[in-house]
Amino acid sequence: MRVDLSEAPSIEARVKQLDVSLFDAIGSQTSPDDRRSMLAIHAAVSARLGPFTYLEIGSHLGGSIQPFLLDHRCTHIVSIDKRPKVQADARGTSYEYPGNSTERMLQNLRKIAKDGVAKITTLDMDSSELRVSMLPSKMDLCFIDGEHTNSAAERDFAFCESALAASGVIYFHDSEIVFQALDNILKCLRAAGRPFHAYNLPTSIFVIDLGMNIHEDDSITKFLSENHLGYHRKAAKYGPLSPLL
Ligand SMILES: C[S@@+](CC[C@H](N)C(=O)[O-])C[C@H]1O[C@@H](n2cnc3c(N)ncnc32)[C@H](O)[C@@H]1O
Repeated sequence: MRVDLSEAPSIEARVKQLDVSLFDAIGSQTSPDDRRSMLAIHAAVSARLGPFTYLEIGSHLGGSIQPFLLDHRCTHIVSIDKRPKVQADARGTSYEYPGNSTERMLQNLRKIAKDGVAKITTLDMDSSELRVSMLPSKMDLCFIDGEHTNSAAERDFAFCESALAASGVIYFHDSEIVFQALDNILKCLRAAGRPFHAYNLPTSIFVIDLGMNIHEDDSITKFLSENHLGYHRKAAKYGPLSPLL
């Protein structure tokens, strides 16, 4: 049987359809719902801007980079990862990432887009050591998934905010772990009179939109009316409520 390759869906169509198989080649510690939400954000930003730039803090194996690597509309990717042997965490446990290295991540990413990796800048440091001048350009979309402590989340947000173009979107993973940092960040934005929209998307994604207004895009609107699903998934992940509470 002959396969008609012209029928293969384009990357634009796959992102818009929230095709989570875009994450299949490399492991990522995100849930299927997280991946759908991340693709919805990606679709909405590219619908707004056409070409756009993406920065993430916390890349590990490269799993969350995959859709951006494959999408020609994403013109530059910045991957920031300090790659410590042991990672602090607000849940009170430390996490280890054995063999964690930028070279291993790039090897993984080369397997899915050999030439695409040319658009990636890697910085093995944390946001306290970073300067905006180290970036190749202003950023449109930032993902924060590094050290899951409140202090790191606030610091990472401050760096991403300074790296943004005139408007942009910053989104967090594992938002239920760093909820106090999110509370502080929103209070600071409000006190500074900075207009924003903020909301959670299933499972654990928290979006802070600084002037791009992607909640008006169909791909996000659809999710917003169903964002309670994130709470069911979190209950399944962390266990049910004790009947005594
Ligand atoms: C949860 S993993 C990232 C997973 C990745 N986003 C994905 O979905 O495939 C967290 C990463 O954050 C990195 N990290 C830990 N502390 C950091 C810090 N202070 N600054 C930047 N990155 C850090 C770790 O090295 C690790 O690779």
